[in-house]
Amino acid sequence: MNPIPTRRHFLQTSAIAGASLAAAPHLFAQAAGADPEIKVALVGCGGRGNGALGDFLNACKILKLNAKVVATADAFPENAKRTGEAHGVPAEQIFSGYDAYQKALKTDCNFVLLATPPNFRPVHFAAAVEAGKNVFMEKPVAVDPVGCRAVIETGKLAGSKGLAVVAGTQRRHQQSYLENKARIDAGAIGPIRGGAIFWNGTVPWIRDRENGWSDTDYITRNWLNFTELSGDHIVEQHVHQIDVAYWFLGRLPVSALGYGSRARRRTGNQFDFFSIDYDFGEDVHIHSQCRQITGTYGRVGEIFTGATGSCLGGGKISGKDVSIPEIKVDSDNAMIQEHVDLIRGFLEKKPLNDAQRIAESTLVAIMGRISAYTGEMVRWVDVTRNEKSPFFNLTCTPTAADFEKGPITLPKEEAPIPGKA
Ligand SMILES: NC(=O)c1ccc[n+]([C@@H]2O[C@H](COP(=O)([O-])OP(=O)(O)OC[C@H]3O[C@@H](n4cnc5c(N)ncnc54)[C@H](O)[C@@H]3O)[C@@H](O)[C@H]2O)c1
Repeated sequence: MNPIPTRRHFLQTSAIAGASLAAAPHLFAQAAGADPEIKVALVGCGGRGNGALGDFLNACKILKLNAKVVATADAFPENAKRTGEAHGVPAEQIFSGYDAYQKALKTDCNFVLLATPPNFRPVHFAAAVEAGKNVFMEKPVAVDPVGCRAVIETGKLAGSKGLAVVAGTQRRHQQSYLENKARIDAGAIGPIRGGAIFWNGTVPWIRDRENGWSDTDYITRNWLNFTELSGDHIVEQHVHQIDVAYWFLGRLPVSALGYGSRARRRTGNQFDFFSIDYDFGEDVHIHSQCRQITGTYGRVGEIFTGATGSCLGGGKISGKDVSIPEIKVDSDNAMIQEHVDLIRGFLEKKPLNDAQRIAESTLVAIMGRISAYTGEMVRWVDVTRNEKSPFFNLTCTPTAADFEKGPITLPKEEAPIPGKA
C-alpha cells in the first residue's frame, strides 16, 4: 500500500509532478493499468453533481488527460438522461432509480463522483470502494453517527486498496486558506485561543409538493429541508466552517453544547438557526452560528484568535511575519483544484484519502445538531466510543436502505422540541 501523503508533502511535490505529467501522459497508463483514459461516472445529477462533473473535466484539461463520462445515475430518469445526453453517454449507461449507483459502478469507470443528498453517501461510498473506484464525494458524508463511522471504516478499506478519495470541502484546496494554515502552523498568530465560525444566509431552496408525487418523490426532491436526508443545515452547509476549525486547530472538539429553533421555515422538519459552543479542550472554545432565514444579516466565514494575532479564514491575518513554503495551485477555482488534487494523487500513486477527516467534520456538525435538538451536551466519545450513550447508535430514518426497498414513510414535517426530543 502506498503511504498517504500529508497535504503539505503533496503541495511540495505537486507542481513538479504536474509539469512532468503534462509532458508524459503515459504515466496515467501505468497508474491505471492498460487504460489510458480517465472514465468518470456521476451519481446524483443535480446542481452540484453537474457542477462537480464540469470541474472534474476541467481538472483533466489542466492535467492534459483524456477524459470520458461513461455513466450517469440519478433517482429520477429525467435527471440522469439530461446529464448523460449532454456528455454523450450511451443510453444503456444512463441509469435511474435508488439502485442506479450500483449499475453505474458496474461500468468501467475508474472515477466516480458522488453528489446525491448526504444520507445516501455512506452506502454509495462503500459500494464505490468495494467496486475499486477512485471517489470524489460531496460534503457532508452522512447524517448520523452510524453513517459517519461507516465512512471512516470504508475509508480505511479505500486506503488499503490504494484508492484516492477526496471530499468536496474546497477550502482545503484554496490557496488563501492553505497559506493561512501554513502561517498559523509557523506561529504567525501563536496558539489559537478561540474563535467563531458562521454560515448565516438565506433558505437555499424549497421544492413544494406537486400532484402525483409519492412521499418518496417528495422527500427526495425537497431533501434540503428534511434532516433525515440533509442532516439539517448545520451539517449540510455549515460543515464547511466546522471543517476549517478542525483543520486550523488541528484537533477535534471534546463536546458540543448549543441551541437552535425553527421560526419561519414552512416545509420539512429542520431548524432555522443554531448557536453552538464547541469545546476544543485546553479552554479553547469555538462559537458556531448558522442561520437560514431569508432577509436577515448574512455572514459566511471564520475568525480565529491566537495568543499573538488573529486570522480570518482564508482572508486577513494579523500577527508575526513568518516564512512559509511556496504554495502553488493549478486553478484559482478551488472546486476545480480539488479534482486536480484527486486525480494527481492517484496518478502519482500517492492518493489523497479524505474519508476519515470529512467523516469526523460531519460528525462534529451532527454533535451540534443533536445538542440543539435535544438540549443535551453531546461529547465526542458519545458518538464515537460510548456505546451506552443514546446518541451512539442514532440513525435517521428513512435510511438509504429504506429508499432502495421503498416506498418510504414520510417523517413528520415538524421540528424537534429541545427537552422533549
Ligand atoms: N461543496 C459545495 O460547496 C456544495 C455546494 C452545493 C451542494 N453540495 C452538496 O452536494 C450534494 C448534492 O447537492 P445538490 O445541490 O446538487 O442537490 P440537488 O437536489 O440539486 O441534486 C441532488 C441530485 O441527486 C439525485 N438523487 C437523490 N437521491 C438519489 C439516489 N439515492 N441515487 C441517485 N441520485 C439521487 C436527485 O434526484 C438530484 O438530481 C449535497 O451533499 C450538497 O450538500 C456541496
